[in-house]
Amino acid sequence: MKKFLLVCCAIATCGIHAATNEMVVNVGKTGAPIQKTMYGIFFEDINYAADGGLYAEMVKNRSFEFPQHLMGWKAFGKVEVKDDGPFERNPHYVRLSYAGHKDKHTGLENEGFFGIATKKDASYRFTVWARCPEGGKSRIVVQVVDNASIGESQVMASCKVDVEGKEWKKYTATFTVNATKQKQSLRLFLRRSGKNAITTTDVEHISLFPTDTWMGRENGMRRDLAQALSDLQPGVFRFPGGCIVEGTDLATRYQWKNSVGPVENRPLNENRWHYTFEHRFFPDYYQSYGLGFFEFFQLCEDFGCEALPVISCGLSCQFQNPDPKQKGAHVPTDSLDEYIQDALDLIEFANGSTDTKWGKVRADMGHPSPFGLHYLAIGNEQWDYKDNPAFTERLKRFLDVLKKQHPEIKYIGTTGPDSEGSRFEMLQPKMKELKADLYDEHFYRPESWFTDSLNRHRYDSYDRKGPKVFAGEYACHGKGKKWNHFNAALLEAAFMTGFERNADVVHMATYAPLFAHTEGWQWRPDMIWYDNLRMMRTCSYYVQQLYSIYKGTYFLPLTMNGKAVASDSDQNGLSASAVKGNEKGEVIIKVVNTGKEAQPLNIRLKGIKNLKQAKVITLHTDDALAENTLDAPDKIAPKEMTQEVSGNTFATTIPANAFCVYILK
Ligand code: AHR
Repeated sequence: MKKFLLVCCAIATCGIHAATNEMVVNVGKTGAPIQKTMYGIFFEDINYAADGGLYAEMVKNRSFEFPQHLMGWKAFGKVEVKDDGPFERNPHYVRLSYAGHKDKHTGLENEGFFGIATKKDASYRFTVWARCPEGGKSRIVVQVVDNASIGESQVMASCKVDVEGKEWKKYTATFTVNATKQKQSLRLFLRRSGKNAITTTDVEHISLFPTDTWMGRENGMRRDLAQALSDLQPGVFRFPGGCIVEGTDLATRYQWKNSVGPVENRPLNENRWHYTFEHRFFPDYYQSYGLGFFEFFQLCEDFGCEALPVISCGLSCQFQNPDPKQKGAHVPTDSLDEYIQDALDLIEFANGSTDTKWGKVRADMGHPSPFGLHYLAIGNEQWDYKDNPAFTERLKRFLDVLKKQHPEIKYIGTTGPDSEGSRFEMLQPKMKELKADLYDEHFYRPESWFTDSLNRHRYDSYDRKGPKVFAGEYACHGKGKKWNHFNAALLEAAFMTGFERNADVVHMATYAPLFAHTEGWQWRPDMIWYDNLRMMRTCSYYVQQLYSIYKGTYFLPLTMNGKAVASDSDQNGLSASAVKGNEKGEVIIKVVNTGKEAQPLNIRLKGIKNLKQAKVITLHTDDALAENTLDAPDKIAPKEMTQEVSGNTFATTIPANAFCVYILK
């Protein structure tokens, strides 16, 4: 048997102290299929993930519907807020009138989300709904201004729109900017048109987008952030949360019907992350629903992945409303019809023909063909009480109707907010009893949880006949080290070998949360960080990406000394899994070394005569607490090398603190 020594340059420098172990992959013995949905995205509007994040709108409170109607705006001159506007569900607008003297000005200035940021040579689309209520004509001058500028002028770019007539109309102007700046504002002046006197003008839904959005869409997403999602090659996309699905009270739950149709008429919703943590309080954090269910489905289509919407089960957040009998906090079980109808209508919106009510709404929005929804989750972090099956009673009501009317959909329940303990133990068997297709598990846990052997073998002992697992929210939260350091990502990578080893049980997994604005976060760690101009992929992002791109098709048994490799006490900090690759004749092996020493390994592929080539992708740093930042976004990133090999065994060394993916042909 020929052996070829495969040693990465980076690896060659590491001291090798440990004895060489042999890992055996049984290529002839195909295990469970790896589901296409195995690795995906969890999206929630937390940390300014939607407004101020992925959703590329730059104007905050564009419809004047925040409870303080001028929040985010400075008003000058003669400005009145009125409430009989053209959009029924967003009735407020602003009336601008003559300031009383030719040298005085009337207008508005918007602060954006942590500023209005522009890029040199990029173009921007300004839109406004406007009218002259008494007839006549007016002009609105629009400027991007840098108030902190010490230059001759604060004005960095400008354009104008000419408003005419008593009817509300949408006006558009596009302009280009010649400076890259983070912190500016958008200023609007009311001016006279030609030689006329200044005419009173009403303005509503004032909006500014870069023209270069993802896919060039007008109501578009930030291109860089959407690209980062696309680069994950996700198999499934869960939306819109998270806790925001439930609401602090029923009125503030996420209502998907409010998030579709023309953007101007999508009503504002509160965002609980505005006040959930008093120590990270953001009084101007609301949900405009500009990124709504249509846009979510569209993104799934762009990424070629399954959509996984989550809907309210009629329980508002149980953390915030702990008494199940509290009046008004939860929908009584005999009054759930409206909520169940919402679920039925959602299936119609996604899949119904264009002559159905909700299928027509989808078609009117520009998508006559169905989106192809196959999964629906009911409830987020819900649970039962000892004497009150608050969640499962409601879930049963949903499932009785939904499974009958839509047996083609897979329904996802939940085991609540914990990965163990009484709530989890109570719910897990009930998911089987109720015949949920999958259930959602959440585990934000410290390093000690991820290194605990019980958890590394978590899925090995799961019921093979029960519902499948959707690890819907998880991340390693270092105690006192709650940021995206490398060690957290490495422990996640090690844990994920257990997903693959148990691919017959684990069908979906989504790291959470996804996004965070550096100036507006409430929760960390998160997968992708950004400010208004830049974006950074964390080490956890790269772990997710490597798993997703190299998820393969079927699990292959992998052993070391006859045992699965899950960083057991005699396994030198190694965890590993193997899958058949995406292409014929390809085997993919993932090995994680969480130990402090480099590990020499012989990897033998049983059932293969002659290997041709090995591609090795390594994510590694010596400093376990190092992280990527916006200033150094590529400090820790996967490095790739290719090597010719022969025979059925190759030798390699996996450095301490490393995650390696071997793609063998
Ligand atoms: O991901 C942040 C929050 O964590 C989610 O909203 C919730 O489901 C969980 O508690």
